[in-house]
Amino acid sequence: MTDGLASADVITVPSMQLDWQAGTLAGREAENQLRLVGDLSGLFGDDAAWRAADPKTPVYEVNVWQPVAAETEGGLFVGVTRVFPGKIGSEYFMTRGHFHAKRNRGELYWTVSGQGVLVLMDEDRRITSERMTPGSIHYIAGGLAHRVANVGDEILTFWAHWPSDAGHDYDSIGQFGFAARVVDVDGCPVLERA
Ligand code: F6R
Ligand code: ZN
Repeated sequence: MTDGLASADVITVPSMQLDWQAGTLAGREAENQLRLVGDLSGLFGDDAAWRAADPKTPVYEVNVWQPVAAETEGGLFVGVTRVFPGKIGSEYFMTRGHFHAKRNRGELYWTVSGQGVLVLMDEDRRITSERMTPGSIHYIAGGLAHRVANVGDEILTFWAHWPSDAGHDYDSIGQFGFAARVVDVDGCPVLERA
Protein backbone atom coordinates (compact mmCIF):
# COMPACT_ATOMS: atom_id res chain seq x y z
CA MET A 1 0.00 0.00 0.00
CA THR A 2 1.36 3.48 -0.80
CA ASP A 3 0.20 6.53 1.10
CA GLY A 4 2.86 9.05 0.05
CA LEU A 5 5.43 7.76 2.53
CA ALA A 6 8.19 5.40 1.37
CA SER A 7 6.92 2.74 3.72
CA ALA A 8 5.43 2.88 7.15
CA ASP A 9 7.44 -0.08 8.43
CA VAL A 10 10.91 0.56 7.02
CA ILE A 11 13.36 2.77 8.89
CA THR A 12 15.97 3.86 6.36
CA VAL A 13 19.64 4.52 6.99
CA PRO A 14 20.83 8.05 6.14
CA SER A 15 23.33 8.24 3.30
CA MET A 16 25.69 10.57 5.15
CA GLN A 17 27.59 10.41 8.42
CA LEU A 18 29.71 12.98 10.18
CA ASP A 19 32.41 12.89 12.78
CA TRP A 20 31.65 16.08 14.63
CA GLN A 21 34.92 16.53 16.45
CA ALA A 22 37.27 15.24 13.77
CA GLY A 23 35.54 17.44 11.22
CA THR A 24 34.78 14.87 8.58
CA LEU A 25 31.68 14.20 6.54
CA ALA A 26 31.46 10.87 4.75
CA GLY A 27 29.03 9.14 2.45
CA ARG A 28 28.04 8.74 -1.18
CA GLU A 29 27.37 12.44 -1.70
CA ALA A 30 30.32 13.98 0.12
CA GLU A 31 32.44 16.41 -1.90
CA ASN A 32 35.96 17.10 -0.75
CA GLN A 33 38.12 20.06 -1.69
CA LEU A 34 41.72 20.50 -0.63
CA ARG A 35 43.40 23.88 -1.03
CA LEU A 36 47.20 23.89 -1.18
CA VAL A 37 49.55 26.87 -0.90
CA GLY A 38 50.09 26.64 -4.66
CA ASP A 39 46.34 27.01 -5.33
CA LEU A 40 46.13 30.31 -3.46
CA SER A 41 47.92 32.73 -5.74
CA GLY A 42 47.34 36.39 -4.80
CA LEU A 43 45.64 35.54 -1.51
CA PHE A 44 48.39 36.35 0.97
CA GLY A 45 49.87 39.82 1.35
CA ASP A 46 53.51 38.77 1.20
CA ASP A 47 53.93 37.47 -2.34
CA ALA A 48 57.65 36.70 -1.90
CA ALA A 49 56.89 34.55 1.16
CA TRP A 50 54.11 32.79 -0.79
CA ARG A 51 56.53 32.01 -3.65
CA ALA A 52 59.15 30.71 -1.20
CA ALA A 53 56.67 28.33 0.50
CA ASP A 54 56.24 24.71 -0.61
CA PRO A 55 53.27 24.85 -3.04
CA LYS A 56 52.15 21.37 -1.93
CA THR A 57 51.54 22.44 1.69
CA PRO A 58 47.84 22.00 2.57
CA VAL A 59 46.17 25.20 3.81
CA TYR A 60 42.58 24.03 4.28
CA GLU A 61 40.14 21.36 3.28
CA VAL A 62 36.38 21.38 3.01
CA ASN A 63 33.86 18.50 3.05
CA VAL A 64 30.45 19.48 1.77
CA TRP A 65 27.10 17.76 1.46
CA GLN A 66 24.66 19.30 -1.00
CA PRO A 67 21.46 17.26 -0.61
CA VAL A 68 19.82 19.29 -3.40
CA ALA A 69 21.24 20.87 -6.55
CA ALA A 70 23.04 24.20 -6.23
CA GLU A 71 20.71 27.18 -6.74
CA THR A 72 17.68 25.25 -5.47
CA GLU A 73 15.51 27.65 -3.53
CA GLY A 74 14.58 26.56 -0.02
CA GLY A 75 17.25 23.89 0.49
CA LEU A 76 20.21 23.78 2.85
CA PHE A 77 23.84 22.73 2.54
CA VAL A 78 26.22 21.65 5.27
CA GLY A 79 30.00 21.64 5.25
CA VAL A 80 32.99 21.35 7.49
CA THR A 81 36.26 23.21 7.05
CA ARG A 82 39.60 22.30 8.55
CA VAL A 83 42.19 25.08 8.37
CA PHE A 84 45.71 23.87 9.06
CA PRO A 85 48.07 25.82 11.30
CA GLY A 86 50.68 27.82 9.44
CA LYS A 87 51.63 31.21 8.08
CA ILE A 88 52.77 32.88 4.88
CA GLY A 89 55.15 35.56 6.16
CA SER A 90 53.34 36.85 9.24
CA GLU A 91 49.85 36.14 7.89
CA TYR A 92 47.99 33.14 9.23
CA PHE A 93 46.67 30.37 6.97
CA MET A 94 43.11 31.24 6.01
CA THR A 95 40.25 30.46 3.65
CA ARG A 96 39.89 32.39 0.39
CA GLY A 97 36.74 34.10 1.64
CA HIS A 98 33.68 35.07 -0.36
CA PHE A 99 30.44 36.97 -0.53
CA HIS A 100 27.37 34.91 -1.25
CA ALA A 101 26.29 35.51 -4.85
CA LYS A 102 22.79 36.23 -3.56
CA ARG A 103 23.75 38.92 -1.11
CA ASN A 104 20.80 38.45 1.22
CA ARG A 105 21.68 34.84 2.06
CA GLY A 106 23.17 34.35 5.53
CA GLU A 107 25.15 31.51 7.06
CA LEU A 108 26.00 29.94 10.41
CA TYR A 109 29.49 28.84 11.44
CA TRP A 110 30.28 26.99 14.63
CA THR A 111 33.65 25.94 15.93
CA VAL A 112 34.48 22.53 17.32
CA SER A 113 38.23 22.74 17.79
CA GLY A 114 41.15 25.09 17.45
CA GLN A 115 41.53 28.85 17.58
CA GLY A 116 40.50 31.17 14.81
CA VAL A 117 39.42 34.59 13.71
CA LEU A 118 36.36 35.12 11.52
CA VAL A 119 36.74 38.27 9.43
CA LEU A 120 33.56 39.85 8.08
CA MET A 121 33.41 42.65 5.54
CA ASP A 122 30.44 44.52 4.11
CA GLU A 123 30.15 45.95 0.59
CA ASP A 124 31.56 49.26 1.83
CA ARG A 125 34.66 47.35 3.00
CA ARG A 126 33.88 47.89 6.69
CA ILE A 127 35.46 45.12 8.75
CA THR A 128 34.31 43.36 11.90
CA SER A 129 35.83 40.21 13.35
CA GLU A 130 35.09 37.54 15.93
CA ARG A 131 37.27 35.09 17.84
CA MET A 132 36.53 31.44 17.08
CA THR A 133 36.98 29.01 19.95
CA PRO A 134 35.49 25.55 20.61
CA GLY A 135 31.73 26.01 20.98
CA SER A 136 31.54 29.49 19.47
CA ILE A 137 28.65 30.10 17.07
CA HIS A 138 28.83 32.82 14.43
CA TYR A 139 25.93 34.29 12.54
CA ILE A 140 27.07 35.70 9.21
CA ALA A 141 24.41 38.11 7.98
CA GLY A 142 23.64 38.29 4.27
CA GLY A 143 25.81 40.82 2.44
CA LEU A 144 28.91 40.12 4.52
CA ALA A 145 31.99 38.56 2.96
CA HIS A 146 33.50 35.96 5.29
CA ARG A 147 36.95 34.51 5.75
CA VAL A 148 38.52 32.43 8.54
CA ALA A 149 42.13 32.45 9.74
CA ASN A 150 43.65 29.77 11.95
CA VAL A 151 45.53 31.67 14.67
CA GLY A 152 46.45 28.63 16.79
CA ASP A 153 48.92 25.73 16.70
CA GLU A 154 46.38 23.01 15.90
CA ILE A 155 43.81 22.40 13.17
CA LEU A 156 40.87 24.79 13.32
CA THR A 157 37.66 22.87 12.63
CA PHE A 158 34.33 24.58 12.05
CA TRP A 159 30.99 23.53 10.61
CA ALA A 160 28.76 25.66 8.39
CA HIS A 161 25.15 25.72 7.21
CA TRP A 162 23.99 27.90 4.33
CA PRO A 163 21.05 28.14 1.91
CA SER A 164 21.36 26.08 -1.26
CA ASP A 165 20.67 29.09 -3.47
CA ALA A 166 23.30 31.33 -1.84
CA GLY A 167 26.03 30.75 -4.42
CA HIS A 168 29.61 31.97 -3.98
CA ASP A 169 31.17 35.16 -5.30
CA TYR A 170 34.95 34.75 -5.10
CA ASP A 171 35.69 37.26 -7.83
CA SER A 172 35.01 40.38 -5.74
CA ILE A 173 37.48 39.13 -3.15
CA GLY A 174 39.95 38.03 -5.82
CA GLN A 175 39.90 41.53 -7.30
CA PHE A 176 39.88 43.74 -4.23
CA GLY A 177 40.77 41.42 -1.33
CA PHE A 178 39.62 42.01 2.24
CA ALA A 179 40.22 45.39 3.87
CA ALA A 180 42.14 43.73 6.72
CA ARG A 181 44.51 40.81 7.23
CA VAL A 182 45.06 38.65 10.31
CA VAL A 183 48.77 38.72 11.14
CA ASP A 184 51.02 37.52 13.91
CA VAL A 185 52.56 40.37 15.92
CA ASP A 186 54.82 39.09 18.72
CA GLY A 187 52.89 35.82 18.87
CA CYS A 188 49.42 37.43 19.00
CA PRO A 189 46.83 37.67 16.21
CA VAL A 190 46.22 41.27 15.15
CA LEU A 191 43.98 42.77 12.47
CA GLU A 192 46.08 44.84 10.10
CA ARG A 193 44.55 47.21 7.55
CA ALA A 194 45.27 45.98 4.02
C1 F6R B 1 30.02 28.17 2.50
C2 F6R B 1 31.08 28.61 3.43
C3 F6R B 1 32.14 27.64 3.87
C4 F6R B 1 33.40 27.93 3.04
C5 F6R B 1 34.65 27.17 3.47
C6 F6R B 1 35.86 27.47 2.60
O1 F6R B 1 29.21 29.23 2.12
O2 F6R B 1 31.16 29.76 3.80
O3 F6R B 1 31.77 26.30 3.76
O4 F6R B 1 33.10 27.65 1.68
O5 F6R B 1 34.97 27.52 4.79
O6 F6R B 1 36.04 28.85 2.41
P1 F6R B 1 36.06 29.49 0.95
O7 F6R B 1 34.80 28.98 0.27
O8 F6R B 1 36.03 30.94 1.16
O9 F6R B 1 37.27 28.96 0.27
ZN1 ZN C 1 29.73 31.25 2.84
